[in-house]
Amino acid sequence: MTGSKRAGAPVAIVSGGSSGIGRAFVEALLDQDYVVYACGRDPSRLDRLADACPDVRAITCDVTDRSAVRRFAASVARERDGIDLLISNAGGSREVDLRVMDRCPDLTSEMRVNFEGAVNLIAEFLPLLKRAAPSALVVVGSGYGLVPSPRVPLYSASKAALHSLATTLRHDLKPLGITVTEVCPPVVDTPSVRHRQVAKMPPERVVAQTLKAASKGVATIYPGKARFLPLLNRLAPSLAQRIVART
Ligand SMILES: NC(=O)c1ccc[n+]([C@@H]2O[C@H](COP(=O)([O-])OP(=O)(O)OC[C@H]3O[C@@H](n4cnc5c(N)ncnc54)[C@H](OP(=O)(O)O)[C@@H]3O)[C@@H](O)[C@H]2O)c1
Repeated sequence: MTGSKRAGAPVAIVSGGSSGIGRAFVEALLDQDYVVYACGRDPSRLDRLADACPDVRAITCDVTDRSAVRRFAASVARERDGIDLLISNAGGSREVDLRVMDRCPDLTSEMRVNFEGAVNLIAEFLPLLKRAAPSALVVVGSGYGLVPSPRVPLYSASKAALHSLATTLRHDLKPLGITVTEVCPPVVDTPSVRHRQVAKMPPERVVAQTLKAASKGVATIYPGKARFLPLLNRLAPSLAQRIVART
């Protein structure tokens, strides 16, 4: 992950780099002297990112649009031999009440962004990850991918799908010299959860722990309060579900 096999600085891609956890990744990686390409859909948010971080390469790209992601990867390939780190972070969640799901016009946007978007990104950047191997893929999942929340059931399902994908990718990409680290944070203090009155982990701490884990090739991390989830879910799954449902 050091980029030492090529002259110059290591290269990282961050999807959803214009806000929240993604923006904290961008800032941390620039501090570590990475060349950072960050994408998002809203150009004005990307402009604000570029104003704050003049060294970032901010690219407008919707990860649900495979041809847009292909163009993004092609533009990076014109400038770089390979990439050392791909951070699949772009995502979103909505509170959906399944008892009235018949009234919800769009029931699949979480799957499109959080799952299909990640698949598009990983597929299109895989040749560049291979070229730079040893290289690393980071997938931003969620504690709700392990224990689903009734508040965000479709989001939870999309993160469970992502967890499954990360598990098989880890197996398949290992012989190619690409590690896969999945981070499953608790509630993190970002604009997407501004309305929630609960304890929130600072995004910078999530990012610091994740980059450290990725540099060591750690498979999965549950930062902060989420660290209790795997054991609790194994020992007492019903209790884990009740606790998550309450919060
Ligand atoms: N905050 C939490 O409590 C929490 C906890 C666990 C996991 N996570 C995960 O962490 C990731 C980041 O969440 P966050 O809280 O930092 O959210 P956020 O502040 O809302 O940022 C989301 C970022 O993703 C971008 N994005 C959304 N849809 C996109 C698309 N289709 N194509 C490209 N970019 C897109 C957004 O930019 P545009 O809107 O301009 O596209 C923005 O830059 C998500 O995967 C989320 O599920 C968050």
